Amino acid sequence: MRKPSWPRTGKDRIRLDSIVSTVLRPLPLLALAALLLCGCRPTVLEPVPAWAYPTNPPPPPGPAATVEQGPFQIATSKLSFTRKELSNLFAAPDWQPESHPPMPTVVSHGRAPEVRACAYCHLPTGNGRPENARLAGLTVEYFVAQVKAFRDGSRKSSVDGRAPILNMTKTAVAMQDDEILAAAKYFAALPPQSFIRIVETAQVPKPEIAGWLFKFNPEGGTEPLGERILEGPEDFTQFELRDPATKYIAYVPAGSLALGKRLAQTWGDSQELECSSCHGPGYKGKDEVPGIAGRSPTSIMRQLYDFKSGARRGGKSSEMDKVVKYMKNSDMLALAAYLGTLAP
Ligand code: HEC
Ligand code: HEC
Repeated sequence: MRKPSWPRTGKDRIRLDSIVSTVLRPLPLLALAALLLCGCRPTVLEPVPAWAYPTNPPPPPGPAATVEQGPFQIATSKLSFTRKELSNLFAAPDWQPESHPPMPTVVSHGRAPEVRACAYCHLPTGNGRPENARLAGLTVEYFVAQVKAFRDGSRKSSVDGRAPILNMTKTAVAMQDDEILAAAKYFAALPPQSFIRIVETAQVPKPEIAGWLFKFNPEGGTEPLGERILEGPEDFTQFELRDPATKYIAYVPAGSLALGKRLAQTWGDSQELECSSCHGPGYKGKDEVPGIAGRSPTSIMRQLYDFKSGARRGGKSSEMDKVVKYMKNSDMLALAAYLGTLAP
């Protein structure tokens, strides 16, 4: 076990002394807060933040409710799709074929029986949805490394049994190297966009879990948010139709954004652990390191927790181990909330 990393050396201790005399005296509270916030003490793994891994309840017993079969339309497209077409994991519904370059077959259709169409979950625009991940703009190197990490079992989830990641894993396991590369090149060329609105609040509209995220019922009253982020579509019907313009709302505890900003800018015991030193200016990504700005806060939360729990290995995850070693769940929450407010 590494010892608390700061103060580590005689030199640092002198630094601490001089901070005590010059800063702590005039500004005791601020300096104390900075010390507590510095992210420089290893922390133990806390329980899984279940709100970041919403799991659909089993369907109610008895015959399935009858659902409308369509065909359906959306405001921004002349096309229409039936319910059956909207549930086909081997032909991604593509509402706006003109909005992106032609998709390689593996992206649009996958390869039955196991390689599911990437664009079904991650959308033809690559912007993804909160229950999966944004792929647009990821570098080819990082993308390939991640699919291979799913394929060889080194990247898993801290929570077993959730369909989106199970299907992602089965897909990766069946993929060939040339398919991974074709998909990586397609998504790398797409511009990352953000569809998330972050709202600080103490009360949230009553949530239920549907579609592996939260569905809010504006008429259902409210409940206290507590120390959670609850994320879901602004319009659930639009979400179910896989409309690429679906907007999401993430309710975060009051104060998270200011805290997250400060943590992002000052993380760790040296500048090397500040998020931007690896993720680049504005956290938009640098070299092979992925952009983390303007992404779904619950998907960011899952990654931070999965690095910390050891469920996510492979790729360059050891770089993030140095960072999450010091993180509490509350730090992850604040960082995820703040990063979600930024332009990708
Ligand atoms: C059934 C839905 C689904 C399908 C289909 C799917 N994925 Fe995924 N994908 C996911 C989920 C879920 C995650 C992980 C989210 C998490 O860790 O919280 C993911 C993550 C990824 C990541 C990692 C992104 C990152 O930023 O780390 C890559 C790369 C990826 N998928 C590529 C693909 C490719 C290539 C295909 C098609 C061959 C594909 N996916 C098909 C659901 C899916
Ligand atoms: C020492 C370099 C380094 C620092 C500092 C760093 N990161 Fe990372 N981060 C990485 C690398 C490398 C990856 C890709 C890991 C992999 O290959 O699995 C990554 C991945 C991530 C991911 C997953 C992204 C995805 O697409 O799935 C998140 C979230 C993340 N970092 C958040 C942060 C935050 C927040 C901070 C600051 C508190 C931070 N990182 C600081 C190097 C760093």
